[in-house]
Amino acid sequence: MDKIVIEGGVPLQGEVAISGAKNAALPILAATLLAPGVHRLANVPELADIRTMRRLLCIMGVKFEDGDPLVVDTTKLTGWMAPYELVKTMRAAVLVLGPLVARVRQASVSLPGGCAIGARPINLHLKGLEALGVKITLNQGYVEAKAKRLRGTDIHLDIPTVTGTENLMMAATLARGTTRLINAAQEPEVADLARFLVAQGANIEGIGTDTLIIHGVEDLAPSPYTIMSDRIEAGTYLAAAAITRGEVTITNAPVEYLAAILEKFHDAGVRCSAEENLVRVEPGGSLQGVDVRTLPYPGFPTDMQAQFMALMSVAKGASVITETIFEDRFIHVGELKRLGADITISGNQAVVRGSKHLSGAPVMATDLRASASLVIAGLAAQGTTEVQRVYHLDRGYARLTEKLEALGARIKRAPA
Ligand code: EPU
Repeated sequence: MDKIVIEGGVPLQGEVAISGAKNAALPILAATLLAPGVHRLANVPELADIRTMRRLLCIMGVKFEDGDPLVVDTTKLTGWMAPYELVKTMRAAVLVLGPLVARVRQASVSLPGGCAIGARPINLHLKGLEALGVKITLNQGYVEAKAKRLRGTDIHLDIPTVTGTENLMMAATLARGTTRLINAAQEPEVADLARFLVAQGANIEGIGTDTLIIHGVEDLAPSPYTIMSDRIEAGTYLAAAAITRGEVTITNAPVEYLAAILEKFHDAGVRCSAEENLVRVEPGGSLQGVDVRTLPYPGFPTDMQAQFMALMSVAKGASVITETIFEDRFIHVGELKRLGADITISGNQAVVRGSKHLSGAPVMATDLRASASLVIAGLAAQGTTEVQRVYHLDRGYARLTEKLEALGARIKRAPA
């Protein structure tokens, strides 16, 4: 198992290109199950989570041809089981549930267990599927789902769950009649999935809003699609550039979805500007502590909370960071403190008092974004930081060390 070794203190400089969005590519790969035939997906990022999703789809008889576009052949499905061994490594595996019940009218999907960032139940996925006519039972840790043709209905989501909205939207595309998903998640990745489904022949209104109206169709057929680029990866490089006082141009950035992130960086004194698909970060100005509250889109994303906290740990003054989406998403705090950050937690709030300097140390985290925040802090820290458990970063950041090295960071992978 590798670790990442960083010699901090180098201002990043140059250009970095953002890859395809993990959280759009995962549901879109699952959605290929809905339309028998040969799909061509461009801009699929090279990530461990994508490989896990591919392994899962292979179990169902899907065939792949590597390349950009990635070729996905879903002509013949031979299975409908998502085993515990895969679901436990990636909760997004649960995204096959909706497409499978819609196309083959059955699915057997391991129930994901607890998670490093919170309990993360899937009760709203299951309740919504039941409303669409799916019979759900729980058997030895597996959700067993069986259905005749699904029938459209109104579904009010108690929480605008991202993957829950995706699962239900996918299932509803092939239902008889109309489904209204009320209080749906408005995350750009949900909209990207919806646009993919429309390209396959689905009839969906209200894309990007909190009410999705899905008129069921008889069948869907493959049509080429390009996955959107990753707004969280873009935000992560923004934080890395800002904390090192670097001069970086982030290309292929999904600028239209970065508003809340850019505004916070701006408020914190980061000199950044955006145009078309570029974000430019310039050095200068002093970093100020600002408060931030994570919210569903279009609010500030929970997936940027840890990285922003790293930045706040070297800003002038205090910053109150409130996490409202997940109950345990402060696992990076103890590790940031090992690097010299001054942070106290009270319930779902972290108070960060900016320190003049961070100093390198061995650290590790049990979650993807938490690990990213440690890399960001390590880039600014004096001396050597070793981030253990690199596999978390491999799940969600394409060629992270290579991209940072190209920006001048002194960073390398090494055997742990
Ligand atoms: N929730 C329920 N019941 C449900 C579903 C969700 O109570 O049936 C709760 C969760 O426990 C949580 C809240 O609702 O407290 C929101 O969770 P949501 O379902 O929206 O999260 P998710 O769909 O499991 C996706 C992303 C996460 C991202 C969240 C929030 C994917 C594959 N994952 O998870 O991404 O943090 O939305 O935006 O899209 C990451 O990329 O690092 C990551 C964790």
